Amino acid sequence: MEAAVQQTPKRARPLAGTTVGIPPRQLDFTLPAQGQRYFYDNNATASLFFAMLSAFFPPGEDYFVESVRHYRKRVTDPKLKAEVSGFIGQEAIHGREHDRLNELLSSRGFAMKAPDKAVRAALWVLDQLPQSQKLACTTFMEHFTALLGEQLLTDELFARRAEPEMIQLWFWHALEELEHKSVAYDVYDLVGNSRRERILAYALVTGTMIPAVLASWGYMLAKEGVFRNPKDIRRGMKLLLGRKGFITRILPQMGLFARKDFHPDKHDTRALVAKWRNKLFGESGSLASDLRNPEVATVQ
Ligand SMILES: [Fe+2]
Ligand SMILES: [Fe+2]
Repeated sequence: MEAAVQQTPKRARPLAGTTVGIPPRQLDFTLPAQGQRYFYDNNATASLFFAMLSAFFPPGEDYFVESVRHYRKRVTDPKLKAEVSGFIGQEAIHGREHDRLNELLSSRGFAMKAPDKAVRAALWVLDQLPQSQKLACTTFMEHFTALLGEQLLTDELFARRAEPEMIQLWFWHALEELEHKSVAYDVYDLVGNSRRERILAYALVTGTMIPAVLASWGYMLAKEGVFRNPKDIRRGMKLLLGRKGFITRILPQMGLFARKDFHPDKHDTRALVAKWRNKLFGESGSLASDLRNPEVATVQ
């Protein structure tokens, strides 16, 4: 009689980023092809702003990853090494999922090539800089994406205004931006943080990105015929730039980056991260069953 072979269940090896709270979660968002055309509060101006932003992510995140990867070999601390690996993993998946969202928005008829070209032109300029200046630019843009993420997760109006299927993708991205918000900065600290370079990064990024935003958003609005609808523009501007507008709330905090003692962790978002990990990936989280690598869900 053959002895029964006792099989020990194989435990998936935790991914490096997962061990330090930066798990690259594998998700495939399925978005409805026929959703509401103006997915943000049925307003074309604001919806096209978020569509433009989505187009900026994949090339932008490639730039972030490349600028950090350049210094990866200098990182010897095991914790930071794992954080870098989590950061790279998360950003790669963000780029992939925003590409899919961008294709969907393109199939709905939005002029998505315009923001793609505009952001690539801006990044081409930033790509000509010395490596440490490039990393400084990344840390500034990561400061912006962390603020954006925090705004998305705390602005209850955003949740009520956006298309429900699409908002899950934005929530997941926002959460992970907060989880990895310090990684690029810690690598930058390691390779010689210079305040002069940071202030220059502020100027260079805003000097290249603001024209890219205005030109491509303006083009998208023109293509969509929104300029013939001043009511839509007025309301969209109020939603984004009004007293309690989405962007208005972010702008005052942008300047923190130029402070001598700036560090992303000085603004504590751990409670917000814990709350949203649970909301999205906890036992009855809205995305828990969509996670293709559930072993990362154990992250605390
Ligand atoms: Fe990202
Ligand atoms: Fe990021």
